[in-house]
Parts: sequence; structure tokens; C-alpha cells
Amino acid sequence: MDGDAAIAPAHRLLREHTRDAHDAAEATAGMRALLSGAMNEAGYHGLLAAQLRLFVAWEHERAGEITAAADAWAYQSRIPLLETDLSLHGNLPARVISHVDVPPEFWGELYVIEGSTLGGQVIVRQLRTQFPALPHAYYAMGESAPGQWRRFQQVLDRMLPDRTAQSLAIVGAQRMFARFQRTLQDPGHHV
Ligand code: HEM
Repeated sequence: MDGDAAIAPAHRLLREHTRDAHDAAEATAGMRALLSGAMNEAGYHGLLAAQLRLFVAWEHERAGEITAAADAWAYQSRIPLLETDLSLHGNLPARVISHVDVPPEFWGELYVIEGSTLGGQVIVRQLRTQFPALPHAYYAMGESAPGQWRRFQQVLDRMLPDRTAQSLAIVGAQRMFARFQRTLQDPGHHV
């Protein structure tokens, strides 16, 4: 389409428009305690349990979109990883598979989730030092992140080609950051 060349790629806009939200997520009580080594094992479990609740809710809400988007991005469920880390071998919530369109907001939400694995590289190093006997399956995802991230950015740029889609994706990303921030600030909070 004419004019597309003048449009900044979606991955760059998402980063620029969520920089403050990222800093706020990084500055939450949970992330600060985790990185400073001040968190005990019970605290780590509480933080993982809170994120499990968040992912159970989000993956359920977005089950249709996750399936519909799978050709472009094979999202890996975080639920079994968190269950491993919590030593749960629970019943996964039933996936609702339906035929749905994938709205731009979904890509913004997924941007926050996939991007958070980049910080996971730093976090998993701290966790391995502090809790060497625990599996850390969830935060270890970050170790395969760098190459995957480049690929994911390309998917974002393809899926969000115009300003309207990009703006909606930014709204989704900001909402998702806020949700993570609540979870990480107060792991007892219910999403
Ligand atoms: C202590 C906690 C955290 C640290 C140390 C951290 C650190 C990082 C680092 C080093 C990057 C890579 C920057 C780059 O290579 O350009 C990154 C990117 C990112 N992180 Fe975090 N992060 C943390 C928490 C989080 C949380 C809680 C979330 C979301 C819930 C998050 C979402 C993202 C996103 C979306 C990106 C991609 C930014 C972009 O578009 O380039 N991070 N983070």
C-alpha cells in the first residue's frame, strides 16, 4: 500500500510506547526482591503462583486467538512451565477452540508476554544461584529468547502493518503491562 514505507515498524512503536510501563514492571516489589536476592523460596513460589493465575486467565480468554494466530506465531503455553516450577501436575483448563479473528490488541498483549522472556535471562541467573535445586522452567524460557525475539518482531511488523492496528496493539500492550504490574507488585492480588 502507498505510504506504508513511512510507517514505523510495529515492534519499534510498541517498545517506545511501553518504555515507562516496562520500567514500572521492573520496579515492582516482586521483581526487585527477586533480583536483589532478598526473596525466599516461599516468596518465589508466591510470585510464580500469581503468574500462573494470570496465565490461566489470559490463555483462557485468548484461547481462540492463540489457535487462530498459530500459523504466524506458535505461542508456547506458560502454564505447564509454571506448574513444573510449582510441582503441580494439575488439570490444565480446557482450551476453548473457536474460529475467531486475531485483533491487534492480542498482538500487543503477546508482545508483553514474549518480551518478558528477555528479562528472564537476567532473572534465571539470579534464581539458579539462589535456589540451585529448583527447576526454574518458566524463567529459563529466556535462554532461548534472543533468536526467537527477532522472529517475533518480524511477526509483529507483518501483523500490524498500519497505524490503526499499531495503536490498538499499543493499547493492548499497555493493558497487559498494567496487569503484570499488579501481579508482580502484590502476588496475592487476583487478576
Ligand atoms: C527485573 C525484571 C526485569 C528485567 C531486569 C528486564 C530486563 C529486560 C531486558 C534486558 C530487556 C531487553 C532489552 C533489549 O535487548 O532491547 C527487556 C525487554 C523487554 N521486557 Fe523486560 N525486564 C524485566 C521485567 C519485565 C516484565 C515484568 C515484563 C512484562 C511483564 C517485561 C517485558 C519486556 C518486554 C515487552 C521487552 C521487550 C522490549 C522491546 O520491545 O525491545 N520485562 N527486559
